[in-house]
Amino acid sequence: MSNATDRLRIAVQKSGRLAEPSLALLRRAGLVFRSSRDHLFLYGENMPVDVLLVRDDDIPGLLVEGSCELGIVGRNVLTEQRLAAADSGGAAELLSLGFGGCRLAIAVPQGSAIGEPADLAGLRIATSYPALLADWLRENGVSADIVVLNGSVEIAPRLGKADAICDLVSTGATLAANRLRELVTVFESEAVLAAAPGILTPAKAALAGQLAARIAGALSGDGVRLLMLQAPRAMLPAIERMLPSRETPSVLSLDGRPDDVALQALCTVALDWQHLEALKRLGARGLMVLHVERMLA
Ligand code: PRP
Ligand code: ZN
Repeated sequence: MSNATDRLRIAVQKSGRLAEPSLALLRRAGLVFRSSRDHLFLYGENMPVDVLLVRDDDIPGLLVEGSCELGIVGRNVLTEQRLAAADSGGAAELLSLGFGGCRLAIAVPQGSAIGEPADLAGLRIATSYPALLADWLRENGVSADIVVLNGSVEIAPRLGKADAICDLVSTGATLAANRLRELVTVFESEAVLAAAPGILTPAKAALAGQLAARIAGALSGDGVRLLMLQAPRAMLPAIERMLPSRETPSVLSLDGRPDDVALQALCTVALDWQHLEALKRLGARGLMVLHVERMLA
């Protein structure tokens, strides 16, 4: 079922935590979509790129079989598939995307006597991530039984099916609602851009590269601010020393004002009022802090 069309396909979660931020990121990368009637497909109107809306757990499989060239999926789902497939290869992680942060953690009933990972020896742990859990148990020298469940993992202890669970935790609300206590983190996850393992046609490879670069460019603007100011030329060294700047600021001359300069600097840390007031005391004027929408190196 490989994608024989000359349009690139990206698989994205249809509903759930990653769904909205994934589409928002693709829009920031410049894609404009029209939804299909069945809402399973978004047709790219300004680039030969279409979005397939699917269950997140299906995304690694779609990449491996070649139905899609790119996917946005949790690193947990991607890594689980890669470990489970062992040497048959898996989808590759291209970029981490900075949203959908969560952790795969082992949790036990609140009243349980289990106090540390070693106490899990000989017990049953329910999970939808058997490969990641098995890896962690092996690395930590704990021998426990893995009970594979595909949903409602959090109720397994109450049903007497397991003594502990290993599941995704984001806010912790699900654990609290099921009176479970987090014991240890097994795997840290966030959304990533993943790529199919196969070789793409030159046209598709170029398109995938362009899209990945645009996504990286959209993300690199996150948390970056552009600081603009004017100042007496003589104060420039003192001002530059104060800037939390990521690269050399641009300094521009001003027509008819040889003693003054305009300065632009990209800053990665928040520029708060104290920062601006300190710069003003050094003689800076017309201070402005702007959001950076996107960057292309
Ligand atoms: C995970 C996990 C829990 C919940 C935890 O499911 O299975 O049910 O999120 O989140 P919380 O700590 O904020 O309560 P997810 O939404 O990822 O759905 P899926 O695993 O079925 O795709
Ligand atoms: Zn899922």
